[in-house]
Amino acid sequence: MRAFVIEQLKKGTVQSGRAVPKLESGEVLVKVSHVALNPTDWKHLDLVGNLDSTLGCDYSGTVESVGEGVSRLKVGDKVCGVVHGGKFPQRGSFAEYLTIKEDFAMVVPSGMSEADAATYGVGFCTAAMVRRAEARMGESLLARRSEMQLTHQFLVSGGSTSVGLFTLSLLRQLGINSIATASPHSFDLVKSYGADHVVDYHDKEAAIKEIQKVTGGGVVGGLECIGGDDNFNLSVRAFGEEGGQLTTLTLIPDDAIKLRREVKIDRILLYTVFGYSFEFLPGKPHLPAIPEDKAWFIEFVKRAQGDSGLVSTTKANPVDLRQGGLEGINEGLDLLRQNKVSGKKLVYKVEQ
Ligand SMILES: NC(=O)c1ccc[n+]([C@@H]2O[C@H](COP(=O)([O-])OP(=O)(O)OC[C@H]3O[C@@H](n4cnc5c(N)ncnc54)[C@H](OP(=O)(O)O)[C@@H]3O)[C@@H](O)[C@H]2O)c1
Repeated sequence: MRAFVIEQLKKGTVQSGRAVPKLESGEVLVKVSHVALNPTDWKHLDLVGNLDSTLGCDYSGTVESVGEGVSRLKVGDKVCGVVHGGKFPQRGSFAEYLTIKEDFAMVVPSGMSEADAATYGVGFCTAAMVRRAEARMGESLLARRSEMQLTHQFLVSGGSTSVGLFTLSLLRQLGINSIATASPHSFDLVKSYGADHVVDYHDKEAAIKEIQKVTGGGVVGGLECIGGDDNFNLSVRAFGEEGGQLTTLTLIPDDAIKLRREVKIDRILLYTVFGYSFEFLPGKPHLPAIPEDKAWFIEFVKRAQGDSGLVSTTKANPVDLRQGGLEGINEGLDLLRQNKVSGKKLVYKVEQ
């Protein structure tokens, strides 16, 4: 088969004659239809990936064959979701075929296009995983739902990111009010995904003032999608006097912890949902397996898939369907590297 492989760091090439991944027990073989790009893909290609591994996490496709013990999925099912790309020769999605445990693959709702379905990968699953982080920090957001219905109480810093748009849509379904940061050109989009109020992040002091005013004294929960000192400073200072819980997708700067001790901060890393220990940063100790994250994910996939699941009730990211198939992916990775992608998902049809 053909696959987009990390040939050297910073150099990804499409290689022919790669072995089709072998089915293991409990897995399905998926003929990939479309793939979507995430920042993690270029970060793996340039920085933390393993040579000779297949890049890519998000996919949609059709089940081609099933392994021993598979009971929920069958040949011909349309599926989508996330695989752990950039670390293993046989696991990435930027390829004609991939294998995935059936527990981790979501059945695509009928009527959904394969291009839209490909967006329910890293962004969607990470947005859902925020609930896991909150449980770990000690307080479920749902327990404070009635309080949060009073005003705009949950901050999404980076409302127009892929994770941000899915988070806003999920919050709306939970009945939780949200306030998001974005550029003015993204305001309408972010509102259409569920934000009650949107604030321009470019002037951080003005943004903090506006958040404090609109929420009547600060938020009680939040998600930091962007990271870095300035954005953490904004997120932490957006909280009210009593503090609360801030989930983040990136490294937590020491200053953010010191600034507001009453704001608990926890980082999530989606890859822990696969349930094994792995080397995340080259040369550093392996991250341990987190069985609770895997158990959560298996239950989540069941709730998310199919005609009545969360995939069907949660809007796809806006799709920018690009030309070029697997060969076009380098161009898309470059746009992401240069922060030139705003409020949309770059999607490629895998030509076969
Ligand atoms: N830990 C994990 O498991 C995990 C999972 C998923 C993603 N991530 C990481 O989370 C980050 C976001 O990923 P993504 O795929 O959701 O991003 P994305 O869709 O590629 O993000 C693009 C958006 O970033 C927004 N943006 C840039 N700077 C901003 C700022 N200072 N404040 C608010 N918004 C800003 C832009 O908004 P405007 O155009 O409106 O300015 C643009 O729409 C990446 O660093 C990614 O690697 C981590």
